[in-house]
Amino acid sequence: MNITEQNITIEKVKQSKISQIDFNNLSFGSVFTDHMLVCDYKNGAWETPKVVPYQPITLDPSSKIFHYGQSIFEGMKAYKDKEDATWLFRPLENQKRLNISAKRMSIPEIPEDYFMEGLKTLLKVDEKWIPKNEGSSLYIRPFVFASGLGFHASPADEYKFIIACAPSGAYFSGKVKVLIEEKYSRSANGGVGFAKTGGNYAGQFYPTQLAVEKGYNQVIWTDDNAHEYIEEAGAMNIFIRINDTLITGPTSDRILDGITRKSILEIAKDEGIKAEVRKITVAEVVAAAKDGSLKEMFGAGTAAVISPIAGFGFRDVDYDLPEMEDSIAERLKKRITDIQYNRAEDTFGWRYKV
Ligand code: PLP
Ligand code: COI
Repeated sequence: MNITEQNITIEKVKQSKISQIDFNNLSFGSVFTDHMLVCDYKNGAWETPKVVPYQPITLDPSSKIFHYGQSIFEGMKAYKDKEDATWLFRPLENQKRLNISAKRMSIPEIPEDYFMEGLKTLLKVDEKWIPKNEGSSLYIRPFVFASGLGFHASPADEYKFIIACAPSGAYFSGKVKVLIEEKYSRSANGGVGFAKTGGNYAGQFYPTQLAVEKGYNQVIWTDDNAHEYIEEAGAMNIFIRINDTLITGPTSDRILDGITRKSILEIAKDEGIKAEVRKITVAEVVAAAKDGSLKEMFGAGTAAVISPIAGFGFRDVDYDLPEMEDSIAERLKKRITDIQYNRAEDTFGWRYKV
């Protein structure tokens, strides 16, 4: 069946809770809009998506999500411009990546029309929830999990695809301090690191907690083999500026293929900023920090946008990064957010009007 906005049913809340929200003091992902999109997979097919009031979900204790972690998610944002129009940023990239994750986790793929028509319908119903304040946006969380039953360790026969939204401010407050990790690994060759699946995040919580206790915000993961190469951070890809060259590691089956990362690479090319996609060793970064050629490090992701890194820790030594007047991170952040909020021309064709 083809899904259009016409065949998605909408059940509205009796009383909106929007007046309880302080849009001037939004944290990240902690208050939720009035509605959500729900779509069930039963008898081998996705049913018609519905918009319903945001509400708890009742699940049988044997639902496979609880036992085998069969779940995937995406992270996107909706932005308001000065004329009150609503925009998404490269939404089809998220739809495609959700299905890359789905395939790896043996979850049935979500057709493009279910995803896009469902998302647009939800955003129209909850349009008033899209923040207009500078630096805020509506964080969108599409996710799919195994609701089918049984303790047998095999893929479920029923799933739920839900889109929930949270008006949100910045993911990090201020600059980020990171710890380069050598003991624990986030992912491995042939594993699920490239998929946005719950376990990749749960597995990071303990090592990240140890890093937080030492005063860092995030861990920078290194390869699981020899812990020699910089891979990515817990919730963002990593860029390193040595002198005037921007470097980011190649994506692989261990690393999430970030949409912000690939957009930055295209913007850098357009701006004439020298950018290299290559393996980068921890030793190279430490040597560059020592000789002063390490100018900037930043994380890139939907939630994190472009988050400058103030310094990193490695083997019990802290390395601070200099304050840069000609910050490439700032320049790229302005360029990408100007496109996202429709403040500048989008020569790449990335903006998507809702
Ligand atoms: N790496 C990880 C592990 C992430 O969770 C994210 C966030 O989605 C990213 C990188 C950045 O990806 P994107 O720019 O597509 O949001
Ligand atoms: C995102 O940036 O959208 C993510 O999914 C990261 C998440 C861990 C907050």
